[in-house]
Amino acid sequence: MRKTVLVTGGAGFIGSNFVHLLVGKPEEWRVVNLDKLTYAGNLKNLAGIEEGENYRFVRGDICDAELVEKLFTEEKIDTVVHFAAESHVDRSITGPAAFIGTNITGTFTLLEAARKAWPVENPGAGERCFLHVSTDEVYGSLGETGFFNESTGYDPRSPYSASKASSDHLASAYFHTYGLPVRITNCSNNYGPWQFPEKLIPLIFNNAMHGKPLPVYGDGKNVRDWLYVVDHCEAIEQVLLRGANGESYNIGGNNEKQNLEIVHVVCDLLDRKIAPLKSGEPRRSLITFVTDRPGHDRRYAIDAGKIDRELGWQPKVSFEEGIEKTLDWYLAHQQWMDEIVSGDYQNYYEKMYTR
Ligand code: NAD
Ligand code: DAU
Repeated sequence: MRKTVLVTGGAGFIGSNFVHLLVGKPEEWRVVNLDKLTYAGNLKNLAGIEEGENYRFVRGDICDAELVEKLFTEEKIDTVVHFAAESHVDRSITGPAAFIGTNITGTFTLLEAARKAWPVENPGAGERCFLHVSTDEVYGSLGETGFFNESTGYDPRSPYSASKASSDHLASAYFHTYGLPVRITNCSNNYGPWQFPEKLIPLIFNNAMHGKPLPVYGDGKNVRDWLYVVDHCEAIEQVLLRGANGESYNIGGNNEKQNLEIVHVVCDLLDRKIAPLKSGEPRRSLITFVTDRPGHDRRYAIDAGKIDRELGWQPKVSFEEGIEKTLDWYLAHQQWMDEIVSGDYQNYYEKMYTR
């Protein structure tokens, strides 16, 4: 039976990729996309998707209980995929207030709306599902060896990861206390089309294209596990279709890279695809080591064995293929990037919150 999904944050990076995936399957999914359109939300990420019977866009805040409750009843929501969040670690260090509001209070508001709208005696009846999209950053930082698995203790170290850990705990508590059909995914670093250019890969792309310095935090040896965004979206779909309530699933690319390696790959591919800089120097010459991020987690690495064993999910796109596709996409969408970069997005919250 076709499900009606409330996708929150569907105009952001991963959310828009997910909306594109679901609207391609109208016999299976009907999508209601709730997004506040903060600096990170962009309707251009949804170009080509038309409003109609299968898709509705609602501009609004997940902290607005009245609006969220109305949507649950009006749209007969039976599935939630909750992406909406403040997602950038650096911003959480300079301005944590928005992270507490959206990531904690916003998640609470959605959980409460689901609790009110779905049958009290059996909220999961009719295969209802509330999928909370979270991050591997809740687990803290690894040393040289080891992996995060679903039993790893939470040890968040930035205001961003602490707010996501808090929302994970709330979601889990709603499963245990109220029987809400909650599932949680904890994913590693995504890359791909529509990623906002404050994040490492699109930021380096943009600066490298314009011959600007490429800021590398600290010694550049921090490790992240990179996953192509469409693989993440497909994993989420599998968790919706075949996952179990009350469970969490780690999702990763099995693709650990030091930040400096990532910056080198982007520089070298652009040198090859376009040409070296006008000066004739390679783009690597733009690399500039800058002051480290406070509390910078050293290494993340995901053990994605559970989702493989239980749901048969594995990433399909290798890093070599994914990064090439991503850079080709950015090259073909430079206007999208230029419009964002020329805007005043850096100061978005300064107008709203005092520090
Ligand atoms: P993003 O910053 O690109 O997009 C966030 C979206 O949420 C934007 O469209 C924004 O307008 C919307 N939003 C923000 N506050 C809102 C509010 N109060 N009400 C309604 N909408 C609001 O983020 P992303 O990188 O796509 O991440 C999406 C989710 O996935 C987040 O929950 C994040 O924690 C999680 N995640 C991200 C990654 C990653 O590598 N990007 C990895 C693992 C998990
Ligand atoms: O691990 C999942 C997380 O990945 C998500 O939960 C977050 O929402 C997402 O933003 C991402 O967090 P990171 O902090 O890992 O991503 P970011 O792109 O900001 O940084 C990646 C690494 O690159 C990190 O070690 C910091 C470093 N970095 C980042 C920027 C923006 C630099 O060296 N220079 C930079 O300019």
